[in-house]
Amino acid sequence: MGSIYERRPADFERHAAVSPYNALYDRPAMLALLGDVHGRLVLDAGCGPGLYAEEILARGAEVIGFDQSVGMVELARARLGDRATLRVHDLCQPLHWIDDATVDAIVLALVIHHLDDRVAALGELRRVLHPGGHLVLSTHHPLADWRRLGGSYFAIEPVEEVWQGDWDVRYWRQPLTASCAEFFEAGSLIEKVVEPQPGPELAALFPQTYEKLSERPGFIMFRLVRPS
Ligand SMILES: C[S@@+](CC[C@H](N)C(=O)[O-])C[C@H]1O[C@@H](n2cnc3c(N)ncnc32)[C@H](O)[C@@H]1O
Repeated sequence: MGSIYERRPADFERHAAVSPYNALYDRPAMLALLGDVHGRLVLDAGCGPGLYAEEILARGAEVIGFDQSVGMVELARARLGDRATLRVHDLCQPLHWIDDATVDAIVLALVIHHLDDRVAALGELRRVLHPGGHLVLSTHHPLADWRRLGGSYFAIEPVEEVWQGDWDVRYWRQPLTASCAEFFEAGSLIEKVVEPQPGPELAALFPQTYEKLSERPGFIMFRLVRPS
């Protein structure tokens, strides 16, 4: 049957282009964390419909992107044309088409919690990064998952949920300690952690979401570095 991202990629694109969580919360905080990428080679892992890649290209970087969903890659191609190198690839498989230590920076936005073997995927991303290069990733804040799902904050388990009526998702919940241990196990060091604050545009357009995100985080972001 495939994931919702494979079955209904255009629905995600429509949503993520303008939604408070994607357009006004995740992307601005992640792009700030990514920093200056002018003239750099950036890998957009789990690129979806190319909304990140478009922003990163506009900042003067060269972009390679991939996603396991054929439909997502088609949408990214329609958005970006030949300005980025795009392909279908499952992050659970080795990135055999990218040489060791060839990428300057990696973006992994709202993807890691969908993976069963996060350490293997992070290890493979580390392999293709230049020593000293960085990977920025965003994921559900574990407190947000705990608050919504209940049960034990310390549970490490896959969750199946339906969002907004008919958007069925499968992702992993786990405590902060487990995520940090996985980063370390994959050979990366944490350079920075961000619990983003919603900005004025989100306040003006989505006041209720602004109130909510002002008092409790929805996502958490990490800037990981491959040690030299
Ligand atoms: C929430 S969307 C985020 C898309 C994009 N990063 C963004 O923020 O706009 C999650 C994406 O991860 C992709 N994905 C999930 N598991 C994957 C895997 N094993 N390999 C590659 N992509 C994957 C999905 O197809 C989907 O496009």
